[in-house]
Amino acid sequence: MKDDPDETRLREQLQGLPLSEVRFSAETGSTNDDAGRWLETGAPDAAVVVTDCQIAGRGRLDRRWITRPGAALAFSLIFHPTPAEMEHLALFSPLAGLAVSDGLKAGCGLKAEIKWPNDVLLQRRKVCGILAETSWQAGRLTGVVLGIGVNVAPSAVPPADRLLFPAISVEEAAGHPVERWILLSEILASLFAWRKKLASPEFFQSWESRLAFKGEDVLVQMPDGQLEGKVMGIDPQGGLVLRTPAGKQEVITVGDVHLRPAHLPPAEQS
Ligand code: BTN
Repeated sequence: MKDDPDETRLREQLQGLPLSEVRFSAETGSTNDDAGRWLETGAPDAAVVVTDCQIAGRGRLDRRWITRPGAALAFSLIFHPTPAEMEHLALFSPLAGLAVSDGLKAGCGLKAEIKWPNDVLLQRRKVCGILAETSWQAGRLTGVVLGIGVNVAPSAVPPADRLLFPAISVEEAAGHPVERWILLSEILASLFAWRKKLASPEFFQSWESRLAFKGEDVLVQMPDGQLEGKVMGIDPQGGLVLRTPAGKQEVITVGDVHLRPAHLPPAEQS
């Protein structure tokens, strides 16, 4: 069978990174599902599944995530957390957020923000979504799958009426075409560097310094209601610290929550 030139370029770009294995497909359902199945059959730590097109991509809260051919990054990393990392499983999502924002800076000179807990924003619009999933067998953690989707070309951004939060592509923000496999290698290089510093003071400081809506009023939608407050920062466990209009400090822990600026009209919220 003839080699796929896109895959050849991808593999060239990923050389030198601390990846154990790379699996690429021209099309798949969801790379998170592929990575989950691979975990069950013995995927090594630091393996990655990359695709050009997802036809059943998944987002948080059972949403769909569309990945059109040639327009986006869609990949899932597999980790076997060390005992120290096991204490901080909730930090794998912000780990990806830090890596994507670093990658956008290094690869395209763009300054990204992280919408707590983990969406990456450019110009206050979502450019990247992250889906971290843990896999368990008989009460024991078998691994973490960290799925990352980045809108690279404008065609990756779904029509506005299908969006819950305004979205943007890397190329729209950069104003020029972007070679997505170079961007991927920048993201992965940063991710493996931050992995060594998971939960360190530097990790939290960098996350907080990139926090979107800091000092602004937001609404946090939780399963049992919503909370309004000013974003103050991140606590040592990775929770979002808010100050309510009554002046009370509240910490929101990562879970099924959405955050949006208090002034956004409801139709545009995520
Ligand atoms: C979200 O913002 O809701 C998270 C979106 C995560 C999308 C990525 S694309 C690669 C990986 N495979 C999936 O099916 N989902 C994640």
